Amino acid sequence: MPVIETRDLRKHYGPVKALKGVSIRVEPGEIYGLLGQNGAGKTTLIKILLGIVHKTDGSADLLGRPAGTVAVRQQVGYLPEDHRFPEYHTGYSLMDFYGQLYGMPRADRRRKIPEMLEVVGIKARMDYRIRTYSKGMKQRLGIAQSLFHDPAVVFLDEPTDGVDPVGRREIRDLMQGLKERGKTVFLNSHLLGEVEQVCDRVAILQRGSLARQGTVADLTRQAGRFVIGLAPGQEFPSDEVARLGYSVEPVGGRVEVTLPDGQGIDPVLGLLHARGLNLRHLVEKKQTLEDVFVAMVDAADPGTDRRPGRRAREVGAPAARRK
Ligand SMILES: Nc1ncnc2c1ncn2[C@@H]1O[C@H](COP(=O)(O)OP(=O)(O)OP(=O)(O)O)[C@@H](O)[C@H]1O
Ligand SMILES: [Mg+2]
Repeated sequence: MPVIETRDLRKHYGPVKALKGVSIRVEPGEIYGLLGQNGAGKTTLIKILLGIVHKTDGSADLLGRPAGTVAVRQQVGYLPEDHRFPEYHTGYSLMDFYGQLYGMPRADRRRKIPEMLEVVGIKARMDYRIRTYSKGMKQRLGIAQSLFHDPAVVFLDEPTDGVDPVGRREIRDLMQGLKERGKTVFLNSHLLGEVEQVCDRVAILQRGSLARQGTVADLTRQAGRFVIGLAPGQEFPSDEVARLGYSVEPVGGRVEVTLPDGQGIDPVLGLLHARGLNLRHLVEKKQTLEDVFVAMVDAADPGTDRRPGRRAREVGAPAARRK
């Protein structure tokens, strides 16, 4: 049974179509990343799954029940984006408050609060008021809050926002630890390098529609491009390989071979073998998740917020009104 499943999920805020039919599926024990530009619909999707926002159409199930069901909510942790906890609380009293909401007995709370705050690295400051916390410390407290009741699935909206590099690594390790314990992590982040390191699968939302979904390995594979290196002193038979229909480009001491449609790399390897050449390096070329993302956004049709024309109009608008 999938932990999260949406089918043709739609959300309209008045005339704004925030989600235009999104179908995703997240399996237990996965770290699943949701990517997309500002306004793509990521937070809307999370809020529907949590039952904070009502869908317009389609279906959204969490742990096999319709999203928003009370019994399901108890098994879910949530770190909202831009959370603001009441600043008069201390770290300890905030956790105590959430512990009560989760129905945790007093003795349990007393024992578990310092443990949990230790995990996120702010135990030493737990008796200080939140107003004295740095941005990263508030974020760490938010993560502690989201994990306090040991939920089966946790939604983290920009968990490393404002957190220093060491803290980010700790949060990544924390997510891995959750996964190892069979928990499911639904992550929303603009830090693609981080997503690439930690996520098993990702979905890319583009203006309310699902543009891509797959494993990080699948999305970053550059289909049909290989880098080949031979033993020192051997020359790559570029002309012969080109005659087989492949395109060959020297890159440093190696060559980059692009496959014609529908062809594999094996005929090239067969040829090298037949010529008595020794293969020393063979790697399918990769691109980063950021490369994939930026290329996708650049390929989008007009109407994207990044387009200069749109920005120029917005800048010009207030001036026009003043006249
Ligand atoms: N309560 C609301 N009322 C009206 N429109 C909304 C509301 N909430 C979100 N929207 C609109 O829905 C679209 C998707 O917003 P959403 O917050 O889901 O984006 P996002 O992908 O989380 O963006 P970001 O990366 O900036 O956090 C945007 O056009 C936004 O303006
Ligand atoms: Mg958002």
